[in-house]
Amino acid sequence: MLELQHISYAVADKEILKDVNLVINDRFVAVTGPNGSGKSTLLKIIMGMITPTSGKIILDGVDITGMPINERANLGVSFAFQQPVRFKGLRVKDLLELASGKNYSFNKACSILSEVGLCAKDYIFRELDDTLSGGEMKRIEIAMTAARGSKLSLFDEPEAGIDLWSFKSLIHIFENLYEKTAGTIVIISHQERILAIADKIIYLKDGKVEQYAPRDEVLNRLNVNVMSPGCAILDEKGERAEQAAKSLRHLRKKEG
Ligand SMILES: Nc1ncnc2c1ncn2[C@@H]1O[C@H](COP(=O)(O)OP(=O)(O)O)[C@@H](O)[C@H]1O
Ligand SMILES: [Mg+2]
Repeated sequence: MLELQHISYAVADKEILKDVNLVINDRFVAVTGPNGSGKSTLLKIIMGMITPTSGKIILDGVDITGMPINERANLGVSFAFQQPVRFKGLRVKDLLELASGKNYSFNKACSILSEVGLCAKDYIFRELDDTLSGGEMKRIEIAMTAARGSKLSLFDEPEAGIDLWSFKSLIHIFENLYEKTAGTIVIISHQERILAIADKIIYLKDGKVEQYAPRDEVLNRLNVNVMSPGCAILDEKGERAEQAAKSLRHLRKKEG
């Protein structure tokens, strides 16, 4: 269980997060909200890349607020970046082994890669350099996070910058991950198909938790907001929100 108690984060005189209180104990929790609402900052605070100005973070009863990233990683917290990192000279198999702290047989590495839709024999010895596309890097990073088998896996907009085809398989990857994971997945996303598999959704706005509730409650409300004229979400997220609104309407129709 992850608890955030009165978490605030300010830079100079700008308050980015304001008294965020959350108890996360479901398997799959999505974080959504307008651009600039503080979603990435929240995940970075949980991972330990930045320290909150005030408040506490408790993971399974342990206060990890001041704990460095590597110690959190040892406790089972892992993070997949919005922009994956490339390491020249390092191969895909090395990365999987580094992430999990295990040596993998060819077959095991294969099965992890095929879960993220990559044909292992083509990728296992590939170098993590510019020859991999954005979608491929994303999948490798998700495979790595899955290989860790973490207690808490954090994903920041895994759909960002990938093409539609890759996006479809990305959804399957998360559906799979949801079935397999023993821990908790927290994922920032604007995508209705990802929101649709969440147990709960956190809706952040202006650095505050506007709503944290079971998926359907939040989707209903987002739907109403997005469709009402002059709505804040539409204004702030523009086209993407319009697309989300369409998908949400479709989803609601389907579910009756
Ligand atoms: N180190 C920083 N210094 C100044 N402003 C920052 C810093 N980090 C984030 N911000 C600002 O805080 C707000 C929230 O950022 P972020 O958490 O990245 O939002 P989101 O991921 O929801 O789009 C944005 O307005 C961003 O520009
Ligand atoms: Mg962000």
